[in-house]
Amino acid sequence: MTIALTPIQQMVREARLIVTAGTGGVGKTTTAAALALQGALAGRRTAVLTIDPARRLANALGLDAFMGRAQKVPTALFTAAGLAPPAELSAMMLDMRATADEMVRRYAPNAEAAARIVSNPYYQAFSTSLAGTQEYMAVEQVADLLESGEFDLVVLDTPPATHALDFLDAPERLLNALDNRAINWLYRPKEATTRDPGYGARLLGKGRQMVFKSLNKFTGGPFFEDLATFLQAFSSLFEAFRVSSRAVQALLRAESTQFLVVTAPYPATVREAINFRAQLVERGFPFGGFICNRVHLPMTPTTAAELRPALVAAGVASGLVPPLAEDLAGLVGDHDRMADRDALSLADLAEVAGPALQVVPLLPEDVHDLRGLVQVGDWLLGRRGAG
Ligand SMILES: Nc1ncnc2c1ncn2[C@@H]1O[C@H](COP(=O)(O)OP(=O)(O)OP(=O)(O)O)[C@@H](O)[C@H]1O
Ligand SMILES: [Mg+2]
Repeated sequence: MTIALTPIQQMVREARLIVTAGTGGVGKTTTAAALALQGALAGRRTAVLTIDPARRLANALGLDAFMGRAQKVPTALFTAAGLAPPAELSAMMLDMRATADEMVRRYAPNAEAAARIVSNPYYQAFSTSLAGTQEYMAVEQVADLLESGEFDLVVLDTPPATHALDFLDAPERLLNALDNRAINWLYRPKEATTRDPGYGARLLGKGRQMVFKSLNKFTGGPFFEDLATFLQAFSSLFEAFRVSSRAVQALLRAESTQFLVVTAPYPATVREAINFRAQLVERGFPFGGFICNRVHLPMTPTTAAELRPALVAAGVASGLVPPLAEDLAGLVGDHDRMADRDALSLADLAEVAGPALQVVPLLPEDVHDLRGLVQVGDWLLGRRGAG
């Protein structure tokens, strides 16, 4: 007899890369960490890359700062949680500025060029705000981890995005930003090879120098010159970055990659998730399923009359029972109304998702430790169900 696996069980056993995506606050980071833990528990050497995890969750994974590489979750943390995964779990968190510096170090032709870029005032503003840097580096890290041969499975969390597709467009957007004509005019890549320390001023032709002079009057400083110098230095990174970006795009579309779209049970969020799936499919990214997180599941009993005998049986003094039963029934009634509301959103999602839908209920507490992650993982893998 063969036991049918749920789509996510199969994914945790077979996929090489799982990406959790979706709109802000729906549970992407929690889901990524929970799935990675399930990977390790299933005997696969797993790494999870989290983006801005909540502090307590980071601590639960043994992370307290950006380290630039994946760290093994210490055995003591597993032991304390009563867990003994047969394979190692590693975790890493990404940090905006640190990932941008890492990107410069990686692509700059030498340490001197890297230092020149990093000390440029324009870079200092750019590094924490240029859309795409963080996402791009996250995917590059994944490629490195998979190539290292040290991991069977990598789980990639994605940053909150107003528009979920921002994440997938990031590498192209970054390239387009660097490829833009106006920028080309500013930095003139042909002259970017000079090692003369005074090249910043000299790279500008006469016409440009005049324009910069006027602009500097308005900005009260050499802002545009700094920008031009920065872009020129940055252009040395450009070609290497372009080649690598292609490889990263291929990795995201590989057959062994699966995207999970995480959503919450609200009509607008569900609509966004459905739309996101359509766009993923259209662009050739492998869609692995929906996760509807923080769902209110129906509870029983739901009336005071139904509650009373259970409370008496539990040894609650009968004099206390009537008011307590009324209060509890009121709370359960509120919960049930939310469960009815969530059920409507779930029905909409189920219509398009079919079996590729896993429900995770709203747990009584935030998920901030390994035990909480196991609980979420059990729901994700369909080991616990509403029935
Ligand atoms: N099923 C759940 N039950 C209870 N709390 C949950 C559940 N799932 C997630 N949470 C909590 O909700 C909060 C948001 O979750 P999480 O950080 O995973 O979302 P996210 O999608 O990564 O958010 P962001 O878009 O900001 O990165 C966290 O405090 C987490 O512990
Ligand atoms: Mg997150």
